[in-house]
Amino acid sequence: MRRPKISVIGAGFVGSTCAHWAASKELGDVVLLDINGDAAKGKALDLFEASPVEGFDSKVVGGSDYALTADSDVVIITAGLPRKPGMSRDDLLSTNAKIVKDCAAQAAKHSPQSVLIIVSNPLDAMCHVAMSASGFPRERVLGMAGVLDGARFRSFIAEALDASVEDVQAFVFGGHGDTMVPMPRYVSVGGIPLQQLLSKEKIDAIVDRTRKGGAEIVNLLKTGSAYYAPAASAVQMAEAIVRDKKRYLPCAVYLKGEYGVNDLFCGVIAKLGAKGLEGVPTLELNSEEKVMFEKSAAAVKELVDAMAKLGV
Ligand code: NAI
Ligand code: 2OP
Repeated sequence: MRRPKISVIGAGFVGSTCAHWAASKELGDVVLLDINGDAAKGKALDLFEASPVEGFDSKVVGGSDYALTADSDVVIITAGLPRKPGMSRDDLLSTNAKIVKDCAAQAAKHSPQSVLIIVSNPLDAMCHVAMSASGFPRERVLGMAGVLDGARFRSFIAEALDASVEDVQAFVFGGHGDTMVPMPRYVSVGGIPLQQLLSKEKIDAIVDRTRKGGAEIVNLLKTGSAYYAPAASAVQMAEAIVRDKKRYLPCAVYLKGEYGVNDLFCGVIAKLGAKGLEGVPTLELNSEEKVMFEKSAAAVKELVDAMAKLGV
């Protein structure tokens, strides 16, 4: 039986860490591709040589030729510049748009049935670029941000309560930027609503830290952005697809009327399985959440319009 194939475009910090998690979870064979083909090849070989020690049976190869990626089931696009201190994700717009356009077009050509998971920033805008360059339907173009922002939210809640992260259910809606919408009303810890466990002040502080979670890491690393949690998050989405798990995960999805938003990528809960996006279950938002979600969608729209003006 053919093993699933996962290709990761961009073999930098996020991409190589995606390859690491995907191989060690034995999701399938892994291809690491980068314009710097030797670096991709070297990292792939190094990871493959770890397999007897760690005990995973995944083939891992790397290079710069998209033929290596042919017939992938999932392609994770991480190519592009990361931000540095003082930069917003949006500052990466035109450079990364050109890179993602090329990567998505090549990936689609070599793996016409694959599901694309976009990671490059600014995330929601790059999903638009990838959808247009690949010509794929919305079911097969997804953006990774919500799993990461939700994981940050969950980590901070678990830390505040000295609880296991496994028992914290929490998610974030909206675009992957300063306007993202953590949803404290829907957080539960072992089934208990968060409001019964933490004061409003503590919840507000955690929500604020979640919104600024990416910048907190950038300011510490100084030369780039986060990669362990982003890669783990992208691989969780890939796992849901290659193992047809029918998971409900927060992802950037091309909305067609859901939540009153049309023709725009924005973070919502998505059902992920073998076909990629298999449904957009509707969550009831109260008026405050609705306003925040609309503001976040408007910020994504502004970026998409800015790209159109730049002609990228
Ligand atoms: P990095 O600089 O370590 O790696 C980027 C890689 O892309 C480099 O190896 C570079 O050679 C490669 N590359 C550039 N142009 C390429 C092309 N045309 N074809 C193939 N490869 C190409 O950056 P890092 O830290 O891995 O971040 C990658 C991207 O992911 C950034 O845009 C970053 O902002 C974004 N990101 C998004 C997150 C999210 O939540 N959506 C979280 C973390 C990072
Ligand atoms: C993050 O949230 C930079 O988008 C990236 O860490």
